[in-house]
Amino acid sequence: MNSLVRRSAQQLSLWRTYCVKHNAPEAASPGRNAGRPNYEEFIGRHQRQAQCSIVVQVSSEKSYAELYNYCSSFGSIMGAHHYCVRQDETLHYILLEYATSDEAAAAIGAGVTNGELSGVPVRSPFLWFRAAGGGRRGPKLVANTAPALLSLDGTRQVDQGHLLGLLRGAADIEEQVQQLHEHTRLNELGIRMRFLAALQVQQAIAGMFPAAQAQPFGSSVNGFGRMGCDLDLILRFDSDMGAKSPLEAAMPSRLVYHTKENLSNGRSQTQRHMECFGDMLHLFLPGVCHVRRILQARVPIIKYHHEHLDLEVDLSMSNLTGFYMSELLYMFGEMDLRVRPLTFTIRRWAQTCGLTNPSPGRWISNFSLTCLVMFFLQQLRQPILPPIAALVKAAESGDSRVTEDGINCTFTRNVDRLGFRSRNQSSLSELLLQFFEFYSQFDFHNRAISLNEGKPLSKPDHSAMYIVNPLEQLLNVSKNVSLEECERLRIEVRNAAWVLESEVENASVPEGDGQELSWGLLNLFKHPEKAVIRPNMFFKPRMVEVSDLFEQKEAGATSSTPPAP
Ligand code: GTP
Ligand code: MG
Repeated sequence: MNSLVRRSAQQLSLWRTYCVKHNAPEAASPGRNAGRPNYEEFIGRHQRQAQCSIVVQVSSEKSYAELYNYCSSFGSIMGAHHYCVRQDETLHYILLEYATSDEAAAAIGAGVTNGELSGVPVRSPFLWFRAAGGGRRGPKLVANTAPALLSLDGTRQVDQGHLLGLLRGAADIEEQVQQLHEHTRLNELGIRMRFLAALQVQQAIAGMFPAAQAQPFGSSVNGFGRMGCDLDLILRFDSDMGAKSPLEAAMPSRLVYHTKENLSNGRSQTQRHMECFGDMLHLFLPGVCHVRRILQARVPIIKYHHEHLDLEVDLSMSNLTGFYMSELLYMFGEMDLRVRPLTFTIRRWAQTCGLTNPSPGRWISNFSLTCLVMFFLQQLRQPILPPIAALVKAAESGDSRVTEDGINCTFTRNVDRLGFRSRNQSSLSELLLQFFEFYSQFDFHNRAISLNEGKPLSKPDHSAMYIVNPLEQLLNVSKNVSLEECERLRIEVRNAAWVLESEVENASVPEGDGQELSWGLLNLFKHPEKAVIRPNMFFKPRMVEVSDLFEQKEAGATSSTPPAP
């Protein structure tokens, strides 16, 4: 059952199921993910979707038909999703998507302020549906039959007992990896909700800053996000995503805006602005609560919780490289269908053995760990991913991106221009084992990891772990990692390699049945005392029982701040 040996026919069939589920054209190579939207198209599509959407709090999902009929009078409803936010009581919400943004605006415009409650009257896509008969009469109800409600719970993780059951019942490790990815990745509703949170901020300041954009980045959009992940948001005042049009470049306008003089110190100016935005969010935006200002960090951020979306948000104004880095990770994830399931499994494993932690510190961050996975996939004898240098080389004039602090983020946005086709046919379980073996032998002491080159370089300083920052190559992404944590990583990858190898040796001997049955990934995620332990293996006490881990509330965990380089 739990053999690592690849069964090509079975793998291909899994692949086909995966392609159908992800609406991806089945490509010639099992790993290739052709015909999918590029990052800007993906972002643009979700931004437009958000502009066509409203979120309405209802007393329960039973209100849906009535809400649908009422809201249909403002336009054509294209989709409706129900989700719950569990506080002291369970709160119910329905996200409605209209055919056009004007229709959504009409619905928002028809909203009224609740005279019975105190509160600043703010117009936003977050509304509630009061019982019929209260206050002003609504439009005449049309007797529509509401289509089925898409009942996805966008803020919650899959029931963990169910997930464990799925992993136990999978045919092999390959399927376990796929199942883990399938059932823990951020779903479509989760993405929609994150774009609505962004739109709310953008619309709130649109009067004074009509060109401003609040753009999601990080795991919410790079395809590596799990259910409950935080929303990283950058507020940009120059909405210019790409290069200027030739006409604009040739004939700049002669009318120039008067503006306030900048402070001489750009950083303190950003901090002042963020302080002001923090107050604005805190005082006026419905749903925004627990606002914290972390302005002394390398990248100053405002953290807040959105109670209508059950979402942690990190808002920054000066981290454009993070935005473009997310684009690179998105592209890597799109290049080969194995990249994301493999990364999810490795991130879950690292969380299980306490290598990663939601709060920033001396341990490896999820972002650095993701870089380790990308690098591993680049340096294979048959690479699955190209080096970033190849993407830079293939850039055309339309790909030019330079941040306001002069950092060049130019690389091709069209992977087809690379002419890169991986001939690597390894299964996910083989790659997982190879990942652990690779890093158990990697010379962290002398070598740095360069995703730009796709091969190790000499380490330029004495940091315990050195991952060249792909967009600011003089910086080290993993500078925060201590020697002890780096050593722990080496020990844990060695242990994981051994556990996976022993799965092959004990291929046909499951440890029990029903609830006790533990094999494959479950053993990898298991408490060391209960797992088969390699002699002389050194374990740290921070490890947790796999079922404990699955029960941890990840959604409420504080999100990590990008580590100081
Ligand atoms: P989770 O929040 O843990 O799910 O993952 P994440 O990828 O969103 O990580 P995080 O919130 O810490 O960072 C958000 C994004 O900022 C990452 O996806 C990267 O794109 C970017 N980022 C984080 N740290 C660095 C860094 O040191 N250098 C660069 N260039 N980008 C970074
Ligand atoms: Mg994040």
